[in-house]
Amino acid sequence: MPDHTICTIEELPEGAKKIVEVDGIEIGVFNCGGEFLAIEDRCSHDDGPLAEGEFDPAACTVECPRHGSLFDLKSGRPKTLPAFAPVETFPVRAEDGQIKLEVD
Ligand code: FES
Repeated sequence: MPDHTICTIEELPEGAKKIVEVDGIEIGVFNCGGEFLAIEDRCSHDDGPLAEGEFDPAACTVECPRHGSLFDLKSGRPKTLPAFAPVETFPVRAEDGQIKLEVD
């Protein structure tokens, strides 16, 4: 899987998020208590801009701004309706001071 460098580690401190576009896919990258997580920025319910919603770093969730489904950033699964299908997640890691995202 090809790696994509997103930014430096300093640019994504704990509790921060960043939306990037890789190969035409919008992806939200989050720092949940030092753990980097990434999900597709498109809600599985009605294509809402998921990563723009409210990020709760303590719970590691994001709330879809369109109809309010709460998604677990680790699994990509919704915890509340109306969404019921998971969104895609992507591996992220910190390496050499950079944050790298793997996208197929
Ligand atoms: S589009 Fe996200 S909950 Fe409806």
